Amino acid sequence: MPTVRDLTAMAGENPITMLTAYDAPTAELVDEAGVDVILVGDSVGNTSLGHESTLPVTVDDIARHVGAVSRATDDALVVADMPFLSFGVDDAESIENAGRMLKEENAEAVKLECGPHTVDLTERMVQLGIPVMAHLGLTPQHVNRYGGYPRQGTDREAADRIFELAREHEAAGAFSLVLEHIPSNLAAEITAELDIPTIGIGAGPACDGQVLVVDDAVGLSEWSPSFAEQFGSVREEMESAIDDYVSAVESGAFPADEHSHEAEDLDELY
Ligand code: KIV
Ligand code: NA
Repeated sequence: MPTVRDLTAMAGENPITMLTAYDAPTAELVDEAGVDVILVGDSVGNTSLGHESTLPVTVDDIARHVGAVSRATDDALVVADMPFLSFGVDDAESIENAGRMLKEENAEAVKLECGPHTVDLTERMVQLGIPVMAHLGLTPQHVNRYGGYPRQGTDREAADRIFELAREHEAAGAFSLVLEHIPSNLAAEITAELDIPTIGIGAGPACDGQVLVVDDAVGLSEWSPSFAEQFGSVREEMESAIDDYVSAVESGAFPADEHSHEAEDLDELY
């Protein structure tokens, strides 16, 4: 049962596996597969709630999904992703929102999309007993600043900024760092420099671990980013099962005798 301390100790030893999950049955499957960390990502906005970005996701949304995931998880470390503007605006509110995930929903840590505004906040949360997973590189809550989801850290100045923020968040007490959509050589340098584990998504093979959105990994998403790999075709499975159901009802093949029952006592009534 990995704790945040076990995870920190895994840096450079065993590759860390992390996947998102948003509901109990998926969390159970991910946990049973031995995945080290389950992230209840604000990607739930795209995967499950029908939003076009993560921006509309609320603290209540994340709390509901963290509850479902933590109830179904025995071993993996459950991390709650803090949604847009739920942190970083006001310290008290940030801490209350993050604390709620541990206090009420059984998460063991939170993840923050980081910038200069989250260094002191990370330190404060860690002091209070809220472990923080930092997230740098492409931070999708900044979609309106980026004008899309472009690769980050592609020139020296931008790479230096990410590197510096990585050091600052480690010093502030973050227990791990997600690196999203940055050059693999930059991710390799950061991984070599930091003591805490880096967990990459679109950041190459040198990171201490890897994370994917579970819908992308199992092939449920209609679209997935180029850095994701589909290890299954759940979408096709579902399409085929649903088509078969519709045909069976329309043809009268379902329900069959085995799905139905008659009550003998009712015979004389009709
Ligand atoms: O919300 C999410 O799923 C994430 C991961 C992709 C790191 O932040
Ligand atoms: Na996220």
